[in-house]
Amino acid sequence: MKNIVILISGRGSNMEAMLAERDAGRLPVNIAAVISNRPDAKGLETAARAGIPVRSLDHKAFAGREAFDDALAACIDEFAPDLVVLAGFMRILTPAFVSRYEGRLLNIHPSLLPSFPGLHTHQRALDEGVRIHGCTVHFVTAALDHGPVVIQAAVPVFDGDSEDSLAARVLRQEHRIYPQAVRWFAEDRLRLDGGRVRLVDAPTDETALIAPPLR
Ligand code: GAR
Repeated sequence: MKNIVILISGRGSNMEAMLAERDAGRLPVNIAAVISNRPDAKGLETAARAGIPVRSLDHKAFAGREAFDDALAACIDEFAPDLVVLAGFMRILTPAFVSRYEGRLLNIHPSLLPSFPGLHTHQRALDEGVRIHGCTVHFVTAALDHGPVVIQAAVPVFDGDSEDSLAARVLRQEHRIYPQAVRWFAEDRLRLDGGRVRLVDAPTDETALIAPPLR
């Protein structure tokens, strides 16, 4: 069974979605640790209650990005993960960190990338008047919120939407697609192919909302 380490900065609802799938027997991974750059992250309590080893590494205690990322990598490597899962981990990562975990570092972002990288994605989607919004799980590259797309989910934007109502609609889909992406990784079904992700043996009933080329 593959070992995963989950990195969070706050609430940790995507992490919780993975715990729930694992507990239901639908996510065959060992969640080896949950690590936060914020000691007060709510998700740390949730993970500890579930019996998962937790660590916090306060980025403010480090002289700079390199020093923090080196310490973070050392902390992650203690758990020898096959996959590192960024789940609301709100830090820009150094190129050295990203290349250390190349091909085994996933992120979820609350927009249909490459639209709306960065912050405040839901408000920006409303401001632009887009009719379709969503979320993306991707392999991480050195560029912010960029990299080969594993899976996306789209949601409609309604006239009466507020930032909160749209965020909630997207978050429900995040909780579906992130465990799915990790499941595919755990099953060795993801192939990185020239900047694209190929899904091995994709069943047709999973095709409706997802972006990877299926054959
Ligand atoms: C999620 O919406 C995730 O997509 C977003 O932070 C939230 C974390 O929620 N991530 C990013 O914006 C990364 N660029 P959670 O802590 O409840 O999972």
